[in-house]
Amino acid sequence: MNKVVVGAQWGDEGKAKITDLLAQDADLIIRYQGGCNAGHTVVVDNKTFKFHLVPSGILYEGKDCFIGAGTVILPEYFEEEVQGLINDGIDVSRLKVSPLASITMPYHTEVDGYTENTSTKGKIGTTKKGIGPTYTDKYARIGLKIQDLYSLDTLEEKLDVILPLKNKTLEKVYGLQPYTKEKVLELCQKYAKIFEPYVCFEWQELLEKSRNKKVLFEGAQGVMLDIDYGTYPFVTSSNPIGGGAATGSGFGPKMIDEVIGVAKAYVTRVGEGPFVTELSNEIGDRIREVGHEYGVTTGRPRRCGWFDAVTMRYAVLVGGLTTVALTKVDVFDRFDEIKVCTAYKDNRNGKIYKSYPTDVYMHKYLEPVYETHKGWNEDITGIREYSNLPENCRKYLARLEELLEVPVSIVSVGPDREQTIFK
Ligand code: GDP
Ligand code: IMO
Ligand code: MG
Repeated sequence: MNKVVVGAQWGDEGKAKITDLLAQDADLIIRYQGGCNAGHTVVVDNKTFKFHLVPSGILYEGKDCFIGAGTVILPEYFEEEVQGLINDGIDVSRLKVSPLASITMPYHTEVDGYTENTSTKGKIGTTKKGIGPTYTDKYARIGLKIQDLYSLDTLEEKLDVILPLKNKTLEKVYGLQPYTKEKVLELCQKYAKIFEPYVCFEWQELLEKSRNKKVLFEGAQGVMLDIDYGTYPFVTSSNPIGGGAATGSGFGPKMIDEVIGVAKAYVTRVGEGPFVTELSNEIGDRIREVGHEYGVTTGRPRRCGWFDAVTMRYAVLVGGLTTVALTKVDVFDRFDEIKVCTAYKDNRNGKIYKSYPTDVYMHKYLEPVYETHKGWNEDITGIREYSNLPENCRKYLARLEELLEVPVSIVSVGPDREQTIFK
């Protein structure tokens, strides 16, 4: 069974924990999109590992880990992350990077920082890791790929096309310093050394030999941050949805048997953008404190709110989810009441939305329609069997399955690998 792990909300759902868990049974683990905007946490025996680009499966020995063509890579960040793993005694010899992955250049992070710092109205609240500008250049066909670092003659040719265009925009639009060809060549030589031990020019062989093996695809971000289906423009610039796993990895869609949507028992979001079930009150603060909801990559406090079955049903549809892993259920251990949003109501005309309205500019008129569930008032972090979960907890999970029309097959009751219940 080849599986894709997809974030079903706005990111930080606990994807890495689920990926790490499922990686036990996989031969090859692939990151297919995004870059170091991701912050993925894995806890094993009380030790915490934080990943940005490296697939969370790296913690197991003997598994191939591949960073696919759909990703964007900031070389210094990649180097730092890999060095951290080496320092922790993790074997990185099976880490492979696609030569087709895109490179985030310093001018991409500069432009991301500029846009975020100066535009207050249209601010996205990005991670300032140059993600948008790198994908923009990729799609404008003026980006650099890792393979370009290893053929200096053609790299020079490419730079003759790219740099005049880039410099014009940097100077005229952003008032930033231009880059000389010598400077970019010097950077590229540095990057070539960083990637040399990991770049996998034999990636076609790797994929071919893995056709009959077990492949696990690790998504970053989440469906509601997807460039095509998310809360545009408050999204990232790639395709975290299940379909992104095919384009971003180099495998066809037929390779995928199961798409596991990871969702929290509530919702969080970092950065700007609509969030209908957001709780700007003491309940939201309580969820943030109990759930330790602070960003891994930026340290920003995450916005918190009740579980939203409207966006989640949408995620099942466009994300291609076949099953759900529900995380952080333990955060509600001491809550008397738990709410679930089942529909939106337009406060201008009373119209009820059961399907997700994609025009986010009208979300300010939407109110959540809630149903209320009784809490279970019990510590569930030590429970490992579904049948041992408190009755109210099982009722709550059964109701989510009913609303989503897909099974909740994994229930996570704590950050550790062990704190997981398979239904
Ligand atoms: P990702 O980006 O989707 O991989 O998620 P993050 O790592 O950004 O955030 C998830 C956070 O929740 C991490 O700190 C995890 O260790 C933690 N976590 C994951 N699952 C659970 C769970 O079931 N219960 C609790 N209490 N924490 C969890
Ligand atoms: P993981 O993989 C949560 C958000 C940013 C911002 C928007 C665009 O850990 O779930 P970007 O830097 O991508 O251009 O920012 O997307 N964002 C994330 N939010 N988790 C992430 O990754 C995110 N990666 C980007 O906060 O709102
Ligand atoms: Mg995260």
